[in-house]
Amino acid sequence: MTEVPAGIDPTVPSVARMYDYYLGGKDHFPADREAAEQIIALAGELGADVREMALANRGFLIRAVEHLARSGVRQFLDIGTGLPTQDNVHQVAQRVAPGAKVVYVDNDPIVLAHARALLADNPDTVIIDGDLHDPAGILASAAEHLDFSRPVAVIVAAVFHFFPDDEEVARIVAALRKPLVSGGYLVVSHAYVEEDSTVPEKVEEARGVYRRTRSGAIAWRDRETVRGYFDGLELLEPGVVPVQDWRNDEPFTPPGLGMGGVLGGVARVP
Ligand SMILES: C[S@@+](CC[C@H](N)C(=O)[O-])C[C@H]1O[C@@H](n2cnc3c(N)ncnc32)[C@H](O)[C@@H]1O
Repeated sequence: MTEVPAGIDPTVPSVARMYDYYLGGKDHFPADREAAEQIIALAGELGADVREMALANRGFLIRAVEHLARSGVRQFLDIGTGLPTQDNVHQVAQRVAPGAKVVYVDNDPIVLAHARALLADNPDTVIIDGDLHDPAGILASAAEHLDFSRPVAVIVAAVFHFFPDDEEVARIVAALRKPLVSGGYLVVSHAYVEEDSTVPEKVEEARGVYRRTRSGAIAWRDRETVRGYFDGLELLEPGVVPVQDWRNDEPFTPPGLGMGGVLGGVARVP
């Protein structure tokens, strides 16, 4: 990107733009690229491929949304949307179910600007400026566009790992689940590191890079914690698994040493 929109400090890396860089997009500034390259290099030293992880996370999201749309879900609330890429949630859902409603939420000004431009002529899709630290505010705004007396799929893909406080994440998950009626769904993906990580100093260096971003943190969590977000819901097969393994016909190649990858799960409100 060459132009800097008002209100943006391009010298502070944004996780949205770093992720866009991992995915091969074009919406990033030098500071984003530099931070992203540091993460790519650190992961590379561990034999892990961050770009592959980002693509695998998108693949999970696409398969999950396709599955839910085919299962009859017609309303989606996607929080922490990210910059528009290929096969965004509304495109996947509306391909299967024309007229499916999609509400996107993000707090990154560049994500908001790009999504507004992309969605200008789509009557069934809106983007809301909202902060996941305030789930009640998000739900109130979403309720202006979605009918919560009918099933809604809430998607939080690759966002909670920017929230270091475990208890806060648990509270947010509970708040988001609360208004969902039977037949609604929760979709979550989350970065993880294997517990037996043999390279804690690399993990710590990567933490330092994310500390300098607009989000200010990264917190990898283990499988048990991520599985806990779905407690009391009907977890779809194959459960909480590396995103590459979620209903994917392609075989899973384990990521490199210590770095882990991204876990994903989808669950139905009984
Ligand atoms: C790694 S991207 C994930 C994008 C997309 N969900 C996906 O999985 O492909 C994380 C997104 O979460 C957004 N985000 C981070 N913190 C947020 C917050 N507190 N409230 C809303 N969005 C947030 C970022 O701006 C970014 O767009």
